[in-house]
Amino acid sequence: MSAQVARTGQPISRVDGPLKVSGTAHYAAEYAVPDLLHAVVVDSTIAKGRIVAIDASAALALTGVVSVITHDNRPHVAQLRYAYKDTVGPPGGPFKPLFDDKVHFDAQPIAVVVGETYEAARDGAALVRVTYEREPHQTDFSAVLDQSYKPSLPRIAIARPPKPRGDVEAATAQSTFKIAQTWKSVAEHHNPMEMFATTVAWEGEGKITVYDKTQGSQNVQLYLKQSLGFKLKNVRVVNTYVGGAFGSGLRPQHSAFLATLAAKALRRSVRLMLTRQQMFSLCYRPDAAQDLALACDEAGRLTAVRHHAVCATSPFEDHQDVTVNWSGMAYACPSAHLTYELAKVDTCTPSDMRAPGAATGQFALECAMDELAYAAGIDPLELRRRNFVDHDQNLDKPITSKALEACYEQGAAAFGWSRRSMAPGSMREDHELIGWGMAGGVWDARMAPTPTRARVTLSADGGLEVAAAASDIGTGTYTILAQIAGEAFGLPPERVTVRLGDSTLPFNPVEGGSWMAASTGAAVQKACDRLKAALLKAARKQEGVRHLKADQARFDQGLLIHPGLPTGAIALAGLLAAADMASLAATGTAVMDMIGMLKHISYTHSAVFAEVRVDEELGVIRVTRVVSAIAAGRILNPKTARSQILGGVVMGLSQALHEEALTDHRLGRLMNHNFAEYHIPTNADVEEIEVIFVEEQDPKASPLGVKGVGEIGIVGVAAAISNAVFHATGKRVRDLPITIDKLM
Ligand code: MOS
Repeated sequence: MSAQVARTGQPISRVDGPLKVSGTAHYAAEYAVPDLLHAVVVDSTIAKGRIVAIDASAALALTGVVSVITHDNRPHVAQLRYAYKDTVGPPGGPFKPLFDDKVHFDAQPIAVVVGETYEAARDGAALVRVTYEREPHQTDFSAVLDQSYKPSLPRIAIARPPKPRGDVEAATAQSTFKIAQTWKSVAEHHNPMEMFATTVAWEGEGKITVYDKTQGSQNVQLYLKQSLGFKLKNVRVVNTYVGGAFGSGLRPQHSAFLATLAAKALRRSVRLMLTRQQMFSLCYRPDAAQDLALACDEAGRLTAVRHHAVCATSPFEDHQDVTVNWSGMAYACPSAHLTYELAKVDTCTPSDMRAPGAATGQFALECAMDELAYAAGIDPLELRRRNFVDHDQNLDKPITSKALEACYEQGAAAFGWSRRSMAPGSMREDHELIGWGMAGGVWDARMAPTPTRARVTLSADGGLEVAAAASDIGTGTYTILAQIAGEAFGLPPERVTVRLGDSTLPFNPVEGGSWMAASTGAAVQKACDRLKAALLKAARKQEGVRHLKADQARFDQGLLIHPGLPTGAIALAGLLAAADMASLAATGTAVMDMIGMLKHISYTHSAVFAEVRVDEELGVIRVTRVVSAIAAGRILNPKTARSQILGGVVMGLSQALHEEALTDHRLGRLMNHNFAEYHIPTNADVEEIEVIFVEEQDPKASPLGVKGVGEIGIVGVAAAISNAVFHATGKRVRDLPITIDKLM
């Protein structure tokens, strides 16, 4: 790495990259802890009912098996459901692992086998015999659609669909062009590279350090304290590095609870890693059935939108995503009627998955816009241009910035959209039908809902440390924070050490909602400002120095440069030594601008263009080109930000063509819970992707003008591909994934 000063806006490589590629970065299951026991989870083999008996004798007779923990012999756990609530859980009663004899879903954890070795625990788990009393289950989402209901409690107030506006019926009746269709999407599973895993280091007297795969160390800390009765100060949760998560690690996972339960029972250190198969049964993006109707006038101006979505949830919690609201605010439209309901299936509670709700709802909306464009005979991009709006009609507030027109323009130019011919099936090359489709996208640009803190410490050697309990789930948080702090003090990135992922560090909420760059970034900036003020104060105490105006001070390469100093500059390390300080620290807190949010609202936007080639005879679909133009405010690091968009595009491609969770409803069991049969794109499925960040300055969106890029990349991708498939083949496939059989 060069000794150049870190700057925001520079495409520097991840500061944690060398550690990760050399295997030096440790993940939750990789921490070496002395005297470690290994735990393996036994899953239920029925989807609903109760456990009559668990026979662990054969398992316990096996050499190396230490214990088999079940609901019958577990140590004391909290009784009230409230104790199992985490900071981001939905309304309802969370699942309580190993609490009682009830089985709520297939592959529910019902026992933990602990062994001296992983192999002993695994073999023991295979020997546990369970007798059940079955009850009828229902895992078929399509069979419960008629039992849908409106959730009584919203997850957060803003998630509720807005009140209807205008007269949708009358407006539709009077409109020249209209479409109404139903879109369906199946459950998707997050499948990050790192498994759910926990290593609990038992430190005696009820004191534990928990290395956990999570998006929020302090969320897990609170959960373990409440559910398992530890003192908060005795639980330290560490998630220094996280191998992807996509929302699966927002809520504490059962691996954390079960490993800690075993450690508490045995007063020993315990490691538990769930299998890839087990991960499938613990969280998913909910299935959805969406009815969407659009109408427009002669000129292609929208007159009415009606969007009704039903999404899956579990019997015990009302998981909710913002799914339909987007349809009332993405485009100018005088009348809108948006409704959102849930239907219960006997599965675990669904969870947030990258751009939760938006990836689902805007798939339907953006496909509907394409269908309307064809009904009206207007170019799909032109139709969207004609309906541009910079006011949030749901909330009746101005949007702080919306460079979507620049996304349209630059994306279309890079893609070559003007060369597209409108008629389906009109572009071909040999035996391949070529389809060009596009979609718009919008996602929240909001700061974290709770205050976010960071500490910056200057040490005697002139090095800077940034510390926050934020999680870097692979997105580049370490890097952008090093850039922010390095820029503030004119230091190269290697002089800045960033410490994250530890519940003992300054408070941060879970890493989610694309809010961490804006929130933790602003906290670091604030901490740097306060550290500079403290350094100036220290400088004023120097011999012969009195008045140092703050606005004339400059910090560069470990120096405080000021015309009021006798020598013009002073080394920061020297300042500390003179004041007899080993180090000097300052903290900063970033808070959402609540007053500002009463007046306006911020979003990120995108325009996605996709090219597909469909084999005329075989129906094989290839996505050969995607251009994603993004308006997301200030981009702190174009390299890591681009990677976020690339990942989002690949996940959108996956949503459109590959991912399909298949349940055998007779058993209530997921049948393809492995990478052989649950398809995700491989390198060969991903061809050209171009990412464009359009210029957008928005000081109102957040103190640094940052909007966040973790989720916007996936929004609209499935629709753009779906629309391209129609353009190639003339066939509308409205249920995802678009597999070959549906094109035949
Ligand atoms: Mo994101 S689905 O909020 O981790």
